[in-house]
Amino acid sequence: MSTPIRIQFVCLGNICRSPLAKVVFRDKVDEAGLDDHFEIASSGTGSWHIGDTADDRMRATAERNDLSLEEHRASQFAAEDLAAYDHIFVMDKSNLNDVLHLDEDDEYGGKVRLFREFDPEPDDYQVPDPYHGGRRGFERVYDIVERTSDMLLHRLVDEYDLEDEVRSADA
Ligand code: 4NP
Repeated sequence: MSTPIRIQFVCLGNICRSPLAKVVFRDKVDEAGLDDHFEIASSGTGSWHIGDTADDRMRATAERNDLSLEEHRASQFAAEDLAAYDHIFVMDKSNLNDVLHLDEDDEYGGKVRLFREFDPEPDDYQVPDPYHGGRRGFERVYDIVERTSDMLLHRLVDEYDLEDEVRSADA
């Protein structure tokens, strides 16, 4: 098996948006039979929640959609992750600034992209931070993450020539 494609999703606290993106994207990868081809992680740019479980409201949102965040523990994005991952998908422009700030020699900017660049309905290209709002904000994040993950996986399958692997998983 070739080296897996290493993907990291990044938000601020790593208790709401990027943990959800990780489990939604991983579910799509599994459904396509591509789990051997990907390593998928998430983190936050801030340190406040290191070691915490995902936010209760996001855990409930995941569960309503037959996904689980029960095993998630928050971690902080580290400068070394810039070299270690092939693609870093950030949830908003503030995350983008914070991640690029760690790229002291401007080596890795090409790996770091707004997740919603892949959203067919991208609005302002940011996944809104649901932390200070109500349940509807969490559901909205789910909808955005769901359709964006679909498109992202299609793009990566194309970029890495994995079409035949998807088909063999369907057989
Ligand atoms: P996340 O949401 O970045 O999607 O995990 C937040 C979680 C915590 C805080 C802000 C956003 N906070 O301010 O503690």
